[in-house]
Amino acid sequence: MRLQNKTALITGGSRGVGRAAAERFIAEGAKVYITDVVADRGQATAAEIGATFIQQNVAEEADWQKVVAQLEADGANLNILVNNAAILQYGNIDMESLEGWRRLMSVNSDGVFLAIKYMLPLLEKAGGGSIINMSSSSALMGVPDFCAYTASKSAVRGLTMSTAVLCKQRANKVRCNSVHPDGINTDMMREVSGQAKADPDQYKNSAPFICQAEDVANVIFFLASDDSRHVNGIALSVDNTSTIHPPYL
Ligand SMILES: NC(=O)c1ccc[n+]([C@@H]2O[C@H](COP(=O)([O-])OP(=O)(O)OC[C@H]3O[C@@H](n4cnc5c(N)ncnc54)[C@H](O)[C@@H]3O)[C@@H](O)[C@H]2O)c1
Repeated sequence: MRLQNKTALITGGSRGVGRAAAERFIAEGAKVYITDVVADRGQATAAEIGATFIQQNVAEEADWQKVVAQLEADGANLNILVNNAAILQYGNIDMESLEGWRRLMSVNSDGVFLAIKYMLPLLEKAGGGSIINMSSSSALMGVPDFCAYTASKSAVRGLTMSTAVLCKQRANKVRCNSVHPDGINTDMMREVSGQAKADPDQYKNSAPFICQAEDVANVIFFLASDDSRHVNGIALSVDNTSTIHPPYL
């Protein structure tokens, strides 16, 4: 029960890694809020695992104001923020449209910016805490077939470092780290395989090395817990060497 008396908020928590992290946090004694843009699945997941659901599009500023209002109304002391919600889109620079680029950036990049902007004051008010940003191995190496996604996850990495240093300067006891998995066996990966069917050879060239959602949730849990209290600003790879030696090379 290493998260007893802690409150966590996990975006995109209705399935995949977000759900696995929520389940782990609850097993460790935390009170957990999950948010998601998909309301029925979010409500069902929350009921199944014992979390509280807030419907939210992370790209909408008004939705973050709604989250703040609910946490304040509940008298919640926020200790842990997991910026997990994201979308994945197949397309290299020739294939990607400006519209597609902006749609992806609004969720994956603006969403994390808004989360930290609105949640950091709550974490500070609670006396400190941990921000965990889901990035990707793609932020640490070049992935041509997912150009917008790769750029968005690099933005997350940059914002992670900026936030970590700000928190150190403020001595506010908030830490901020990013997690960089390669392929995870979730619906996101299955859905993008469908998108890439039109171009199977290219997709094969960037075929990921797959781990399970729980493998990533375990790492998120470490960064959320006080065991990582001196870990701030790192990029934590969860990829069984893929970043240092891509499996397709
Ligand atoms: N699956 C992988 O192979 C992989 C690899 C590296 C990094 N990641 C990252 O890990 C995190 C979790 O991925 P996953 O595989 O569990 O994905 P997933 O698609 O299974 O789950 C993502 C969740 O986010 C929600 N979501 C999407 N857009 C949203 C929005 N605008 N507002 C609120 N919620 C929204 C979805 O409804 C979904 O429930 C993501 O940040 C992803 O980029 C995934």
